[in-house]
Amino acid sequence: MIQVVHTIKEVREAVRQWRKEGLTVGLVPTMGYLHEGHKSLVDRAVKDNDRVVVSVFVNPMQFGPTEDLAQYPRDLAADTRLCEAAGAHLIFNPEPEEMYDEGFCSFVDMNGPTAELCGKSRPIHFRGVCTVVSKLFNIVMPDKAYFGQKDAQQLSVIRRMVKDLNFPIEIVPCPIVREADGLAKSSRNTYLNPQERQAALVLSRAVNLGRQCVENGERDTHKVVEAMKACIEQEPLARIDYVEAVDFQNIQKVDVVKGETLFAMAVYIGKTRLIDNFIVNI
Ligand code: PAJ
Repeated sequence: MIQVVHTIKEVREAVRQWRKEGLTVGLVPTMGYLHEGHKSLVDRAVKDNDRVVVSVFVNPMQFGPTEDLAQYPRDLAADTRLCEAAGAHLIFNPEPEEMYDEGFCSFVDMNGPTAELCGKSRPIHFRGVCTVVSKLFNIVMPDKAYFGQKDAQQLSVIRRMVKDLNFPIEIVPCPIVREADGLAKSSRNTYLNPQERQAALVLSRAVNLGRQCVENGERDTHKVVEAMKACIEQEPLARIDYVEAVDFQNIQKVDVVKGETLFAMAVYIGKTRLIDNFIVNI
């Protein structure tokens, strides 16, 4: 039976007990409203570790003032069922006050990899992500933590943070899980009406087109990006936030496809901002 706890003390007690028994611990940080994408992380964590903690916390610190914090979907009962079926052992679902008590004023921030892509339109986002993930690492102290390539910049940022701050935690990247028609699974897909849901397919179409360009031998990132943008612009409901090519290690812009290159995009479909990406390794 999976345990659902709301306080840091309860998490620490459970983990202390497991550690006494010599068990390994995996952590899957999430904001809940779990779908097959999250489940793939939990499945992998269950495979790799004796015990798995899933955190379900809509972290206010990573949302900007005009973003969707209040409307972000929540369903702890469904999340609990999904985690239990996947074989996870503990859900940590704190209230914001448990994570950020009165007087909270310490942050984990980063220059460089957070400046491009989503960092441009969401200036405080990664500071919120780095701070909450650091806190979760300190609370759970897992051996391994699982992050999806769906949020490729976040994955790169967390890897850098773990290296820079010497967290003794292995970061395990997990591939993007998609709907049958190609749309990357996301809790935010629930915001789309049927017409927008159809229009949202333009993101995965652009991903496939971009990947095809590189496979056909194109090495000029600008040409690949232009082709992707032209594809997205054909969809009247789509408005491009960015389409860019960066080095996956440091999230700096690159002109030539070389090494691990991340092609990433954020596109508004109506009012909903969706992201998608692909990584090539040449
Ligand atoms: P959330 O958006 O809930 O995502 C939790 C984890 O699930 C992330 O690592 C994300 O990359 C992964 N994920 C989401 N959709 C996926 C998909 N379609 N395929 C594969 N993986 C997918 O990312 C966050 O929450 C937060 O920023 C968090 C790290 C929890 C910090 O608050």
